[in-house]
Amino acid sequence: MKYAIVTGGARGLGLGIVRALLSDKVVDHVAVIDRALVPPPAEIADRIEGFSGDVTDEAQIHAVAEAITSKFGPHPDVLCNNAGGGESGWFESGRDAEWHSAEIWRRYVELNLNSVYIVSKEIVPRMIAGAAVCNTSSIAGMLATPFLAAYAAAKAGVISYTRTLALQLGPKGIRVNAVAPGLIYTKIWEELGAAIGGGAERARSAFDAAVRTLTPLGREQTPEDIGQTVAFLCSDRAANITGQVMAVDGGIVLGRPQRT
Ligand SMILES: NC(=O)c1ccc[n+]([C@@H]2O[C@H](COP(=O)([O-])OP(=O)(O)OC[C@H]3O[C@@H](n4cnc5c(N)ncnc54)[C@H](O)[C@@H]3O)[C@@H](O)[C@H]2O)c1
Repeated sequence: MKYAIVTGGARGLGLGIVRALLSDKVVDHVAVIDRALVPPPAEIADRIEGFSGDVTDEAQIHAVAEAITSKFGPHPDVLCNNAGGGESGWFESGRDAEWHSAEIWRRYVELNLNSVYIVSKEIVPRMIAGAAVCNTSSIAGMLATPFLAAYAAAKAGVISYTRTLALQLGPKGIRVNAVAPGLIYTKIWEELGAAIGGGAERARSAFDAAVRTLTPLGREQTPEDIGQTVAFLCSDRAANITGQVMAVDGGIVLGRPQRT
C-alpha cells in the first residue's frame, strides 16, 4: 500500500492535491496534516485520515509523524508540503505599505518557509528510494510584486530549499520538486481580495481583475489544476524530474500582462 502525507490538505489546493493523488492512483491512501480538520468528501473519505497538527510546531509534527507511520507504515511514499498562506490581518498590514511589522514578517516566514523545513526534517528521513516530495511555492516567489514582501520572500525560499533538497536527496533516489500556483479563489483570496478591494463584498471582483490583467490565458486556476500537476510530479511518470518548479498560472510568469 502506498501513501502520501499532505499538509494543509483539508481544503483549497491541498484538497485538490489529495483528490488528484488518489484519482491518478499515485497512492492508495492519504494522511492529511492540518490544524483545522474538517470531514473529508464522502466519496474519498475511506482513503483519507486526518491528523491534527500545526506545521510550524516541531513537537506536534514529531508526534503526528509517529502516529502516521505507525498507522500507514514506516516509509511514506509522497510528501506534499502545501500548508501556507496567511491570515486576513496579515494581508491588511501589507496592503498599502512597504513595511510589515517584524512580527508579521516572522509569521509569514514561519508558516510558508520554516514549516517546509520542519515537516521535511521529520518525514524525509523516513522515506526510501522511489519516494517523492512536492512543495507548494507560488508565482509570488518567482515574480516581484509591490506588496506581500514577506510572503514572496518565503515562497522564493521554498524554491531555493526545493533545489537544495533535490541535490541532497538525489543520491538516495528521492525526488523533490515544487509547484508554483497562480490565482486560485480559495479562502486566501477571499481574504486577500477583501484587503486589496477594500471590503469582503469586493473580494471576488478584485480577484477577477487580477486574473484579467495578469493572465495571458485569461482564466483563473483551480485546485484541480494544481492537484493534477502535483500528482504528476509525485508519480513515476516524473521519475527523471527533480529540483524543478512548475508554474501552474495560465502564463503569468511570462511577465507580459495581456489584458486590461
Ligand atoms: N490560492 C492561491 O491563489 C495560491 C496561489 C499560490 C500559492 N498558494 C499556496 O497554496 C497553499 C494552499 O493555499 P490555499 O489557497 O489552498 O489556502 P487555504 O487557506 O484554503 O488552505 C490552507 C490549508 O492549510 C491549513 N493550514 C494553514 N496553516 C496551517 C498550519 N500552521 N498548520 C497546519 N495546517 C495549516 C489550513 O487549515 C487550510 O486547510 C499555500 O501554501 C498557499 O500559499 C495559493
